[in-house]
Amino acid sequence: MSVSSPLPHDAARLHVTGQARYVDDIPTPAGTLHLAFGLSSVARGQILSMDLDAVRAAPGVIAVLTADDLPFANDVSPSAHDEPMLSDGSLHYLGQPIFLVIADSHHAARRAARRGEISYEEQTPILSIEDALAADSRFEEGPRIYGRGDAATAIAAAPRHIEGTLELGGQEHFYLEGQAALALPQEAGDMLVHSSTQHPTEIQHKVAEAIGVPMHGVRVETRRMGGGFGGKESQGNALAVSCAVAARLTGRPCKMRYDRDDDMMITGKRHDFRITYRAGFDDDGTVLGVEFVQLTRCGWAQDLSLPVADRAMLHADNAYWLPNIRIESHRLKTNTQSATAYRGFGGPQGVVGIERVMDHVAHALKRDPVEVRKRNYYDAPETAAAGGSAPHSPRDISEQKKDNYTPYGQLVEDFELCGMTEALLASSDYAARKQAVAEWNATNPVIKKGLAFSPVKFGISFTLTHLNQAGALVHVYQDGSIHLNHGGTEMGQGLFQKVAQVAASRFGVGVDAVKITATDTAKVPNTSATAASSGTDLNGMAVKAACDTIRGRMAAFLAQLHQAPPDEVLFENGCVQIGDTEMPFAEAAKLAYENRVSLSATGFYKTPKLAWDRIKGEGRPFFYFAYGAAVTEVALDTLTGENRILRADILHDAGASLNPALDKGQVEGGYVQGAGWLSCEELVWNDKGRLLTHAPSTYKIPAFSDQPDLFNVALWDGQNREDTIYRSKAVGEPPFMLGISAFLALSDAVAACGSAYPALDAPATPERLLKAVQRLRDGV
Ligand code: MTE
Ligand code: MOS
Repeated sequence: MSVSSPLPHDAARLHVTGQARYVDDIPTPAGTLHLAFGLSSVARGQILSMDLDAVRAAPGVIAVLTADDLPFANDVSPSAHDEPMLSDGSLHYLGQPIFLVIADSHHAARRAARRGEISYEEQTPILSIEDALAADSRFEEGPRIYGRGDAATAIAAAPRHIEGTLELGGQEHFYLEGQAALALPQEAGDMLVHSSTQHPTEIQHKVAEAIGVPMHGVRVETRRMGGGFGGKESQGNALAVSCAVAARLTGRPCKMRYDRDDDMMITGKRHDFRITYRAGFDDDGTVLGVEFVQLTRCGWAQDLSLPVADRAMLHADNAYWLPNIRIESHRLKTNTQSATAYRGFGGPQGVVGIERVMDHVAHALKRDPVEVRKRNYYDAPETAAAGGSAPHSPRDISEQKKDNYTPYGQLVEDFELCGMTEALLASSDYAARKQAVAEWNATNPVIKKGLAFSPVKFGISFTLTHLNQAGALVHVYQDGSIHLNHGGTEMGQGLFQKVAQVAASRFGVGVDAVKITATDTAKVPNTSATAASSGTDLNGMAVKAACDTIRGRMAAFLAQLHQAPPDEVLFENGCVQIGDTEMPFAEAAKLAYENRVSLSATGFYKTPKLAWDRIKGEGRPFFYFAYGAAVTEVALDTLTGENRILRADILHDAGASLNPALDKGQVEGGYVQGAGWLSCEELVWNDKGRLLTHAPSTYKIPAFSDQPDLFNVALWDGQNREDTIYRSKAVGEPPFMLGISAFLALSDAVAACGSAYPALDAPATPERLLKAVQRLRDGV
């Protein structure tokens, strides 16, 4: 088997037949208790008094805990220790957990949780960006500023200008499996926790702090999640800690899962942004200077907001070489759910900003937006004056030599987008369809069509450098079967399958010989969250290292036995070949065991070449970049705002793909999720800070029927220039940003209704589209 076979997801069959086991499906011992939170009904204030007698008296209730009842730490924050699990008396958002009900059934706990009588001293909540700016309510003092060159001077000197503001909504993760945890008390105060989490080590850490034991007293297991999308990097802490605390107190297993409405009310979402921009450019569309101000609502606690906002800044260039750029980022603290990681981790917001600028420039010049984009692209490797000039040095535009440094001083060495763009424009028949859309729009007053292209360049690695490490544990049993474990978690993305293919290929056996096992903090310690798209890069390499250690021992032993050089021992086609001798892998394993050769090994990997100073905004935060490009065509009913995607063509760079079937699945899913973010998915809070869209009845994610009628997804035939696992590239998040082409296509359709620039806000819901059409038709 070649390593890169398009095999199905290891659990595909289990998923579709309902046999895949999620936390809530794990058979629980008799006497298992169930938990629910009582929530704040005000967005900001102080608790004056709490009467929980009715909660305690409710049927099935075993105990009710408040902050005062917690034995040790009351903190579920992943970073800043600013997130009490149960309110300490102050209230920071509507939906904040105040007390914990322990009952004998899920429904009993939820019903009882509604019975709390709490009186509040209400304060005026800080909800909007304006509120936060007025109150100077923020994380980190003042704005963070990254950039290069002198944007203000370059803009002033440029012959042409645009400026504008773009509102970008947040996004609910809508993982199909909600947050869930189950804690099983063990002997001597130890705790076993099953958690639907992207970050088992953090769960272990937070649980250990909360029940007062060292980390060795807590074991966390995660077989799979029914989707995470970043929403399970930190948001599972409260459930796991609650279960562990309750299990410690009662001595009984405890389980907690959020009902969908609770999940949406309690947990953080994608950060919403307001981006203002100003750009100066020439008559050909070359952007000479650009300034962005990114204002983001982080919610009430810091969570991962600083690195999310950093990443939005780091992607403000997207695919474009911008000699003069200034990015100013404000991280605002508001009385709303604590915004958290979500596919792209701030990157998508940054990318939308510059794509908007390119679109706006093209509209101002009445040029094809693809031409404007290409003009501003980084140079392809052959033409780039790579390394020619120092980072951050201003340069002479007229000389038309791009130094290919990003605003933060990382050299773009393999800019694939020049070739990819030409290939995609050809395969999608862009030019002819652009013409056809123009003709259609000229003759059809009601249904307008739009066509748009957008590229993505996405940096791969955690920007917190020390997180770029991973471990693995591999056993070969004496029958030749292989037990595989690593620190990554499976959330549907296909990580386990891809890594199993790596293990199988190292031993030259079929993937059926490899047993994929649950992530377990007792097998591989000190893991990073499975995030930043780097699951396969990190864990694939760690597994390869472990396999190669075992393989090396087997080869040395067999070589000696058969008087052959160790490098002539080959592991292929289920067999081991030693010179002229060949034996099944299982026989080789048995022989090695009988000769006391160790068949178990750990593996470790850390990403090389990284150096990043986040305060200065300088260095090499990313090991490499992944690329993609999309062309989307939409139809818009200008009387109702209803719309659909008629066709999407995508070319995506997964390097030498480890599994083209799974990678295409990631591209398709990412695109649809990205398009959903910018079109139909809308979060609405009222003026009290209550999230009104807290269920599928009011929050609309794309349905199966919303996927493009024609959906052509292809992988770019290339290899990673960096030495990643089999030269593949990470694929989890980058394609999310291809959904931006759908947003731009809607804008293009609106543009056909008048001459002004549509300046659409996101999400471009039918209401917003209708208003934009009206504005253009009224000639405003
Ligand atoms: N795909 C599925 N099916 N479900 C998910 O939850 N999460 C995304 C992406 N693709 C996700 C997904 C996010 S946010 C990330 S960071 C990556 O997968 C994480 O997995 P990887 O690093 O193994 O690609
Ligand atoms: Mo993904 S947002 O890095 O979990």
